[in-house]
Parts: sequence; structure tokens; C-alpha cells
Amino acid sequence: MHELIERVKQGGLPRHIALIMDGNGRWAKARGLPRTAGHQAGAQAAERLIRFAGRELGLEYLTLYAFSTENWSRPKEEVDFLMDLLDRFIAEKLREFVEEGVRLTVLGDLSPLPPRLRKTVEDAVTATADNSKLYLNVALNYGSRQEILRACRTLAAAAASGRLDPDAIGEEALAGSLYTADIPDPDLIIRTSGEKRLSNFLLWQAAYAELYFTPILWPDFTPEELLRAIETYQRRKRRFGRVEEEG
Ligand code: IPE
Ligand code: IPE
Ligand code: MG
Repeated sequence: MHELIERVKQGGLPRHIALIMDGNGRWAKARGLPRTAGHQAGAQAAERLIRFAGRELGLEYLTLYAFSTENWSRPKEEVDFLMDLLDRFIAEKLREFVEEGVRLTVLGDLSPLPPRLRKTVEDAVTATADNSKLYLNVALNYGSRQEILRACRTLAAAAASGRLDPDAIGEEALAGSLYTADIPDPDLIIRTSGEKRLSNFLLWQAAYAELYFTPILWPDFTPEELLRAIETYQRRKRRFGRVEEEG
């Protein structure tokens, strides 16, 4: 494992990896367990991965899709369980985040969240604000279309009040009005569980991301699997619309 880590590091790490953590429900079902048990196991996989990304790999940015704007349509008991799990997860991890230099930020609209979770999240964001070893972004009540709409509204309001010239609205202005304003675009987006879609995740930011899909269900996703994904990424040619360089 140590050799593999070193090799992957030398091959050039992506700056920013974003993860669509999918398949908790199917993982549980395959074991005859309730879906909530899958989410519990998924939280452990997330914990393992965050620790690995920060400590062993020295990754700069890690983004985790934890709850989408569409996930509110799930049964209330499942939504309540997820809110509670997120609350406990962040509260329990906070000390480690502080000690290990993890800076937590949240992508998404916190206002509809249970007040307790909201406070836990806000406190953790504040407590880790000076850290800079690993930037950990949790997409929580996140939806990319809503994010883009919100950015459009911000810009439209500025334009309507005369503070902004509509002709001056470029990619930077829009990108700067997204939740990810201070975060570089993801280089690599990984989705587990075999689904091959983005499910309203980072649509703007993913314009030139490399996509990696694995059939492994999220609770089974290990640091080795992450390294495998990075190795695949390293073999890809990112052209950004240009022709491949000679030589
Ligand atoms: C991902 O696992 C976790 C969340 C969306 C919160 P799922 O709960 O979507 O698991 P499957 O897709 O039903 O297996
Ligand atoms: C995407 O997974 C959202 C998260 C991982 C939080 P879903 O399970 O909600 O996506 P769909 O419904 O299969 O597209
Ligand atoms: Mg799913």
C-alpha cells in the first residue's frame, strides 16, 4: 500500500476530487439490513476516506456529496436519520478536523436544515476556518441547478440596482457567485454504485472534470479504490479543447 501511495503521489495528484457517495441503500439491502444501516456504514467509509486523503495522500480539495436537494423526497424516517447522522458525524469529527488541519466548508442551502444540524455545521465551519491542509467541502442540501439559479439572482439583483453592467457578466462572475466561489473546479469526479450520471452535482464546475464510475457500493469504497481511480485519471489525456501536445 505504501508503495502504491508513493507511486500515485509521484504521478501527479488531482488538486480537487469530488465524490458522489452512492449505493448505501443497495449495500444494506444485499445484507438484509434497513437502508439506515447502509448510511451508517457509508459514514464510516467517508470517515476512512477523509482521513486517508488528508493524512496519507496530502490531497488539497475533497468534496463529498452528502445530501441533494432531491433527497428530501425520500421517506421522512430516512431523511430524519440522515440529518441526525450528519449532525453526529460532524460533531464527532470536529476535534480531529481541528487537529489535522482540515478546513470544512459547506456547499448548499443550510436554511431548511434542522436547526441543530445547522448549528453543528456552522460551528464546525467557524472552528476550522483557519485550517488549510485539506479543504473538505460537504455538499449538503446541494443542487447544482439551484446553485446556478441563486448565482443568477445575485447577479441580476446587482445589475438591476446598477452596480453591475450586464455586459460585464462573464464566466468568472458567475463562477464567483456559486457556492464553490473559492474552490477550484474538480479535476476528478468519482461516482460509486454503478450509476452513470451526475444527479445535479457540480454541473457548471464539472465542465472539464474527468469522470470515473465504479460499480463498488459506497460503504465498500476504500482508500485503495481511490488510488485506483487516481491512477486511471493519471492515464487520461486532458485536452481542454486543444490538440494534444507533440513530443
Ligand atoms: C447514497 O446512497 C446516500 C445518499 C443519497 C444520501 P443511497 O441511499 O442513494 O443508496 P442507493 O442508491 O439507494 O443504493
Ligand atoms: C446522489 O445520489 C446524491 C448523493 C449521493 C447525496 P442519489 O441516489 O440521490 O441519486 P439518484 O436518485 O440515483 O440520481
Ligand atoms: Mg442512490
